[in-house]
Amino acid sequence: MTSHGTRFRRVLITGASSGLGAALARECAGPGVALHLSGRDEARLAAVADACRGRGAEVAARVLDVRDADAMADWIAGAGALDLAIANAGVSAGTGDAWEPPEQSRRLFEINVTGVLNTALPAITAMAAQPAGPDGVRGRVAVIASIAAFVAAPGAPAYCATKSAVQRWAEAMDATERHRGVRLHAVCPGYVRTPMTARNAFPMPFLMDAEDAARRTLAGIAAGRVRVVYPWPLYAAARVVGALPPAWRAALFARLPAKAAD
Ligand SMILES: NC(=O)c1ccc[n+]([C@@H]2O[C@H](COP(=O)([O-])OP(=O)(O)OC[C@H]3O[C@@H](n4cnc5c(N)ncnc54)[C@H](OP(=O)(O)O)[C@@H]3O)[C@@H](O)[C@H]2O)c1
Repeated sequence: MTSHGTRFRRVLITGASSGLGAALARECAGPGVALHLSGRDEARLAAVADACRGRGAEVAARVLDVRDADAMADWIAGAGALDLAIANAGVSAGTGDAWEPPEQSRRLFEINVTGVLNTALPAITAMAAQPAGPDGVRGRVAVIASIAAFVAAPGAPAYCATKSAVQRWAEAMDATERHRGVRLHAVCPGYVRTPMTARNAFPMPFLMDAEDAARRTLAGIAAGRVRVVYPWPLYAAARVVGALPPAWRAALFARLPAKAAD
């Protein structure tokens, strides 16, 4: 339990059964905190829920696929008032040593983009009807994008595109939704040690623990930052590489191993 996590007392998190989502749940957990957690793997989700209960939180866990829009809307509508909803569930894959399979491209967009909308849109609607807190905020929606949002990496076309889509969407939405008291945050982590990155065979500079990433995420949201991006050296490098002409970028990435395909 930390000072950052305990700022949010009613929190909903997708993809809470693993990695960053599980760390976010543990970091938020504490006495007086109500957590609504979802994931696909029932046993791993139950273990995270138990760990959060062990820290004093009330936990409701639900096995859900973020692609099921109706089930997501029902779950979020039934959660009651929320201070924070985190659209964290996501999948990652790349081209390996060939090209990106069409089915993989579609699946990444369905989970990382449509799945995020299936979480964020019902949460925004519900929050807009909640009373505002002393700071004028009715609720916050955080979208877990990535520093990959800033680079069109040839080794991970769909992943970079999906993360760019949700980062831009959240930042643009924040500019309008804040007028009715709902804030959006685009969270853009660098490399985090989770099952998602465990299979990466390439160097991952500034790789951080999931707990560290969770603390930085919650601190950035609590500080009201629209773009919560870390660590800054990787962000700076991504902005430089992202600004290169596409042919230069392709030549640079041709020297590096790509993320494995699914
Ligand atoms: N690891 C990194 O370096 C890194 C960096 C930047 C951004 N991110 C982003 O952070 C988020 C969490 O990633 P992670 O590293 O923690 O990966 P992870 O350990 O593989 O966890 C991914 C989570 O997403 C859930 N999920 C995947 N597909 C789903 C679906 N269709 N419906 C519902 N839940 C689904 C998984 O549920 P089950 O396991 O129960 O199937 C799991 O809880 C992702 O959005 C990822 O893109 C990660």
